[in-house]
Amino acid sequence: MTERMTAQKLRSHKGQPPLVWLTAYDYTQALLAEEAGVDVILVGDSVGTTTMGYDSTIPVTMDNMVYHAQLVRRGAPNTMMVADLPYLSYATEERTLQNAGRFMQEALADAVKLEGGRRVMAAVDILIKNDIPVVGHLGLTPQSVHTMGGYRVQAKSKDSIQQLVDDARALADHGVCAIVLEGIPDRVGQYVTDQIAVPTIGIGAGNQTDGQVLVFNECLGLSSRYPKFAKPFADVRGTVIQGIRQYQSEVQSRAFPDDEHSYHVTDKEWDAFWQNDRGRRP
Ligand code: KIV
Repeated sequence: MTERMTAQKLRSHKGQPPLVWLTAYDYTQALLAEEAGVDVILVGDSVGTTTMGYDSTIPVTMDNMVYHAQLVRRGAPNTMMVADLPYLSYATEERTLQNAGRFMQEALADAVKLEGGRRVMAAVDILIKNDIPVVGHLGLTPQSVHTMGGYRVQAKSKDSIQQLVDDARALADHGVCAIVLEGIPDRVGQYVTDQIAVPTIGIGAGNQTDGQVLVFNECLGLSSRYPKFAKPFADVRGTVIQGIRQYQSEVQSRAFPDDEHSYHVTDKEWDAFWQNDRGRRP
């Protein structure tokens, strides 16, 4: 078994084999992710789209996130768990500290993640000052869907690349333990990775970042649609649908439950019961 990742170890994970992060939203997923041995489990606010049926992460609340983080913690007690601060939960310093504190105390998270660069630095600072490890998130930040004008690849022009690089430098200087880079060109992912002393975790940022993160449903082939960067490594959706159809067909033909999956009473007991009950008939 590999050694448990911590925020401190994570921070110095540079120039080493790529880290494997995976999202999880419930007990079973966490159990499987821990058994497979991922380095870090992210309880992403993508729970809103993957599990709660919303079409964005905007409606996800702090209560939703704490609940899901608790389920994940129970399934993966020995894996570093990062919990995502949802939309508006870090809009003021007071709210930031209160909400991140809930993750640490109620769900036993190891670190929290928030979206944005210099514009969220007050939130980053108040957390780090209070010993709460922080993971940054730059590039395509889904909580900004309305201001980004949709889920678009970011940092494609000279100025926007510069902004992203400056944001990454600022987050690293202020003490975050990793930065998620989402939906940016591979060259930008590599450049940021080379420029900063903390690990970058890519999702649609090329293969030169210090690690990768994927959304559970997309990694395992549970979704029906995939963004360009997501590769399903299994066909769980197909397997599940096939399994349900087989169940349906065996129930309808009475092939299930068969003898092996039924409980039995001995002939002796049955005969005794039957004689007795027959005698009682009016
Ligand atoms: O919410 C999430 O799952 C995330 C990942 C996509 C990085 O933030």
